[in-house]
Amino acid sequence: MKATLLVQIFLLDISQAFIVGSSSCKAPPVAAGFRNDRYNGLWYEVSKAQTAGGAYFEKDCVCTTIDIQPVTSATNGDSTAINSCRKLAPSGDFMNATGTLSSESPAGHWKEGFFPGAPKADYTIVYLTDTVAVEYDCSSFLGLFTNYCIHILSRTPTISTEDEAAAISYAESLGLNTQNLPFHKTLQAGCW
Ligand SMILES: *[C@@H]1O[C@H](CO)[C@@H](O)[C@H](O)[C@H]1NC(C)=O
Repeated sequence: MKATLLVQIFLLDISQAFIVGSSSCKAPPVAAGFRNDRYNGLWYEVSKAQTAGGAYFEKDCVCTTIDIQPVTSATNGDSTAINSCRKLAPSGDFMNATGTLSSESPAGHWKEGFFPGAPKADYTIVYLTDTVAVEYDCSSFLGLFTNYCIHILSRTPTISTEDEAAAISYAESLGLNTQNLPFHKTLQAGCW
C-alpha cells in the first residue's frame, strides 16, 4: 500500500517534470521597433501553430481576422482584440470573441483575457513589419498544462511564400514552438 503510493508520487513527479520542462510558456523579446500604432487595426490570420487545448475557440475557424483597437479612454496601451472568424466555411456562421489586452509592459506584451475573472494569457508580438506580424500567446495552468498559439498575421488576406517563411522561421528561432507543432494555413480564399 505504502509502496504503491510512493510509486504513484514518483511517477507524478516524473510526469510533472516532463510537462514543465518540455512545454512551459516562453517569454520572448517583443518585436524590434514595436509601436502600438504599427500593430493597431485589422490583421488577417494566414497561418498558425496551436496546441489542442488552446484551440477551443478557433478550432473550426476560417476567414479569421484580428482587429486591434486601442481603448479610447486608456493612456496605457490597453486595447481590445476583436477575433472574428466563420465556422468551417466562408459562408459559415460568425464566431466572434473579443479579448482584452491589458497591462502592456513592455510595449508589445500584454495580458489577454476573454472572460472577467478567467486566467489571462501572455500575449506578445514577437515580429512586426509593415505587412506581417507574429503573435505568440501562451497560458499555463499551475505550470502543468500549457497551451500556446503562434499566429502569422498579414495586413492582406494573402501572404507571399517568402514573407510567411521568414515569419515562421523567426518564431522557430525564438524556440516558441516547444511542442514542434506544424503550422497550418488558415483559409482566407473565398472569404472577402
Ligand atoms: C463578427 O465580427 C465581424 C468582423 O468584425 C463583423 O463583421 C460581424 O458582424 C460580427 N458578427 C457577429 C455575429 O458578431
